Amino acid sequence: MSENTTSSDQSIEERGSNRSQRPVSQAFKDFVMSQWAPRGDLGVTPSRAVPFTADRRAALSGRLPGARLVIPAGPLRTRSNDTDYRFRPHSAFAHLTGLGTDQEPDAVLVLHPVEEGTGDPGADGTPSNHHAVLYVRPLAPRDNEEFFADARYGEFWVGARPSLADVETLTGIEARHVDELKDALAKDVGGNGVVLLVVTGADEEVETLVEAIRAEAGVDLAERAEAETADAQASGSTAALDEATLVGTALDGTVLDGTVLDDAVLDDAVLDDAVLVEATSEIRLLKDDLEVEELREAVARTIEGFEAVVRELPRAVAHRRGERVIETTFDANARLEGNAVGYETIAAAGDHATTLHWIRNDGEVREGDMVLLDGGVEVDSLYTADVTRTLPVTGEYTDVQRRIYQAVLDAADAAFAVAKPGARFRDVHAAAMEVIAARLEEWGLLPDGVTAAESLDEDGQQHRRWMVHGTSHHLGLDVHDCAQARREMYLDGVLTPGMVFTIEPGLYFKADDLAVPEEYRGIGVRIEDDVLITADGHENLSAGLPREPEAVEAWMASLRG
Ligand code: GLY
Ligand code: MN
Repeated sequence: MSENTTSSDQSIEERGSNRSQRPVSQAFKDFVMSQWAPRGDLGVTPSRAVPFTADRRAALSGRLPGARLVIPAGPLRTRSNDTDYRFRPHSAFAHLTGLGTDQEPDAVLVLHPVEEGTGDPGADGTPSNHHAVLYVRPLAPRDNEEFFADARYGEFWVGARPSLADVETLTGIEARHVDELKDALAKDVGGNGVVLLVVTGADEEVETLVEAIRAEAGVDLAERAEAETADAQASGSTAALDEATLVGTALDGTVLDGTVLDDAVLDDAVLDDAVLVEATSEIRLLKDDLEVEELREAVARTIEGFEAVVRELPRAVAHRRGERVIETTFDANARLEGNAVGYETIAAAGDHATTLHWIRNDGEVREGDMVLLDGGVEVDSLYTADVTRTLPVTGEYTDVQRRIYQAVLDAADAAFAVAKPGARFRDVHAAAMEVIAARLEEWGLLPDGVTAAESLDEDGQQHRRWMVHGTSHHLGLDVHDCAQARREMYLDGVLTPGMVFTIEPGLYFKADDLAVPEEYRGIGVRIEDDVLITADGHENLSAGLPREPEAVEAWMASLRG
């Protein structure tokens, strides 16, 4: 209970912090706020992301000239009662600011429209159409009660936040107090003035503020979108068709250097928040050099995690929840060497490997079974790897395990073979599926009379009983990156140098699957690598982790000594 109230006059909100025993006397306040040395220089230097993020903001600016673009970092999120999760900014915010681990709750990046071609320059000096400002909650002075009394934001509780000057130095972006956000967003909105767009799903409070500003200015984006769509349909042209033409250009082989995406100016698109969300997703389809470097680092740390797990397999076998031994070993390395894991680690032994997202990880690890480990280290810049290996617990695959493993590997290799500039994203999946269907036919698992070719037909697809997921997804700040990109940019998109995605076929035979012979039941295999499209093909970023069954066995033997 707090000191100066009785339970009867406590509000429910106050009771949520009953643990607080902070004194309220003036004597305490005077003393705790005095006698502090001047704040030292936090030693902030410009992030190496500065020129890259300037280019990323210029790319976004090029797609939405004239609109005010609001990209929130997001708030702290409650874990339970008055405790929060560790802070992770929204990926669009991280991409455009370069801020990573723990930075910066409640901050909002705003790209203010300026006269076209007079805005902040990209790294090559070409002016964009916007001026960027970061609205942040700066460090409170020590004569402010927040300093010692605010368990969520106070320096005594969570450490010193950067000052506005620190944020400017670190990011190369003008920084302002978050209290200025409301007026800055509202300026010139409405009528034929500025269109205000916000990345939705990042910060409810900022969204509510944007909606209130629009309402006050008499702007109804939904109504306008409807009218514009009707106009476009009447004139026989839609934004989607125009953009598809751009992709068509690439298919003709003329534009495969990445400009296909930069050139996708949405002149005719209906301006609403979805267009901004889509744009922030699509500008991430091609990774710049720094992003590729960060992904390489994430993969390297992930491979270390896999090695640590192999060393700990005997302990996993001995423990009643051996899968937890695997999970915690992998996750400990991720936390030590990076920010965290990029998604909940899947540590699935035996039949659990047939559950695609098995993250309960509370099962036994038995000799003779295989363990499917799907894990990714997220480095401090928040880029994550996503790698899967299916390992024999004894260190040696049985014949049937090897047969299934080899089929999945062949499917992965077929997918790799088509992963080069000019192919479409969905060709990668199709190549893997051809192999999977062929093996299932060979093993007599497809239903009576169904051939692999018939199964591959859109009206068949029986083979997908044993692999219901896709073969690939883009990878970056989000494990399933660029998820809001349009279909013509993603599934139907053309592979272009700088794209990074997974290749992860699998076969999953559940313990109670009566459609397969008994010896196959309870076996799940997935092999997942992270792939960079290069000018002349691809690079397997996770090639440092063995894939061939014999190489996996030799690698495990070398680690176990
Ligand atoms: N590795 C987890 C997933 O791709 O869903
Ligand atoms: Mn994946």
